[in-house]
Amino acid sequence: MTGGPVELRDIGACVFDAYGTLFDIGAAAAKCHDILGDKTDALTDIWRSKQLTYTWLRSLMGDYVGFNQVTADALDFALETLAIDEAGLRDKLLVLYDELDAYPEVPGVLRDLKAAGRYTAILSNGVPGMLQSAVAHAGIGDDLDAVLSVEAVGIYKPHPSVYQLAVEELGVAPERICFLSSNAWDAAGAAHFGFQVVWVNRFGQKPERLPGKPMAEITNLAELLPLLSA
Ligand code: 2OP
Repeated sequence: MTGGPVELRDIGACVFDAYGTLFDIGAAAAKCHDILGDKTDALTDIWRSKQLTYTWLRSLMGDYVGFNQVTADALDFALETLAIDEAGLRDKLLVLYDELDAYPEVPGVLRDLKAAGRYTAILSNGVPGMLQSAVAHAGIGDDLDAVLSVEAVGIYKPHPSVYQLAVEELGVAPERICFLSSNAWDAAGAAHFGFQVVWVNRFGQKPERLPGKPMAEITNLAELLPLLSA
């Protein structure tokens, strides 16, 4: 990352990670706070961390299943870990995961990008059905030119073939893709692949000690547009 003003040059497409970057991964559990009480945040944390761990482990094991299955498996692990056994809660949480809220600034930022003539896309671990559902729920479909899923390559981020999918589907060279993710490890993977990466550090995390450095760090997507004006 640079210490001074950042210039993202010659950007041909703005490509967004979905979960945690556009969509609020805490929203499902938060909507069940009446049942989960003081276990709400722990459920969100264990669910997310196990979901990601399973994507990496399944990629190493060469045993891909869709993100909907990984998400359900991770939820089962989290519920059992926290000894939560409430009738109907598991299914309710999974339905809510398909309808996660967008972070507040997301619709306006996508609208502004489109108004500025930018090409916009999602590149996500999610299966197409989950992504379409979340996009529709958030009302952002009109401001996205493409929604790309790892389902097409059958392996999860940060495998290079996932980032290559965006290059091939969008027809834009890696160095002309601005990739945005709140997941520091995803930002590292995308930078290592060759994208111009902006790390959306929503959660105030420390930088990963991995190859691949983001060009810029912002705290939410409203800070993106000034970077692109250069
Ligand atoms: C996504 O691909 C990593 O969850 C993240 O949307």
